[in-house]
Amino acid sequence: MKKIPVIIDCDPGHDDAIALLWALASPSLEVKAVTTVAGNQSIEKVTDNAIKVLTKARVYDIPVGQGYSRPLIGELNDGGLIHGETGLDGPRLPEKAFEKVELNSVELMIKTIEEAQEKITLVALGPLSNLARLFIIRPDLKEKIEQISLMGGGTYGNWIPAAEYNIWVDPEAAKVVFDSGIPIIMAGLDVTQKAYVTDEENEKLKAQGNEVSIFVSELIEFYRQYHYQVEGFPGCTLHDPCAIAALVHPEIFTAEQCHVDIELNGKLTRGMTVIDRIGYLEKIFNEKKERQVKVLFGVDREKFVEYLLEAMARLP
Ligand code: BDR
Ligand code: CA
Repeated sequence: MKKIPVIIDCDPGHDDAIALLWALASPSLEVKAVTTVAGNQSIEKVTDNAIKVLTKARVYDIPVGQGYSRPLIGELNDGGLIHGETGLDGPRLPEKAFEKVELNSVELMIKTIEEAQEKITLVALGPLSNLARLFIIRPDLKEKIEQISLMGGGTYGNWIPAAEYNIWVDPEAAKVVFDSGIPIIMAGLDVTQKAYVTDEENEKLKAQGNEVSIFVSELIEFYRQYHYQVEGFPGCTLHDPCAIAALVHPEIFTAEQCHVDIELNGKLTRGMTVIDRIGYLEKIFNEKKERQVKVLFGVDREKFVEYLLEAMARLP
């Protein structure tokens, strides 16, 4: 099977951790590098978490590069409210079996992309700060990127009413990425909030009995609390795993090609993804806009959960 070479940029984070594990378990993906971005917790914490998640999966040979401590502009507003003090509160985490590499996140991306024989897919599971820095420093490397599969945005928000957390944390970076001209698969809230796991399904996951399935079910037990208490949802939303599932099981999603822009200035809407679903900019204002973003809107939830469980069962 031909594998899709990916770099995973993440801020683990419960759903990042699950996404990372799903990628490791997928025979159709080759994870070339993992890079971290400040988001759900400080850059040091999310970097440690990424290494611990790889350690849990007994994968010791994928380089992990640490990112910067803040977004392009201003200070970090971390996601500790949802992910806890460590960023991965809940299960007992293993000791790290290895250390991050010397190169920082962007240097590691550059090296990996330059050395690759084929085009790389970037998977972005946190704020888009690293990807933006990469495109600003090395715009020539854009042509070696096949596509970006990201979790972010939506037609509504989850941090402020109009904006989703990953985009809201670093809107300037999101603008650079959405203006890059690279094809994007966008798993925003419209789809990720449909991709939830019920308690009953989480029990099935735990009952699979392997270490990683138990670990993931414990992550969900912690992570679901916010979705129940604050959002009143029927299960635990798995945002970031959608960006992996969109690559390995694209047939379970429904999507539309849209032009997407990022709001930078609005008092109530900074960080909003403005999705021109109908094509108003072209039809009314005659503005030629590339519809380079495949916006995911729907998912076959039961298949999503079935594939997640299968993937976790393949790990130690
Ligand atoms: C996104 O924000 C983070 O808390 C999650 O890891 C996910 O990437 C959801 O809005
Ligand atoms: Ca994330």
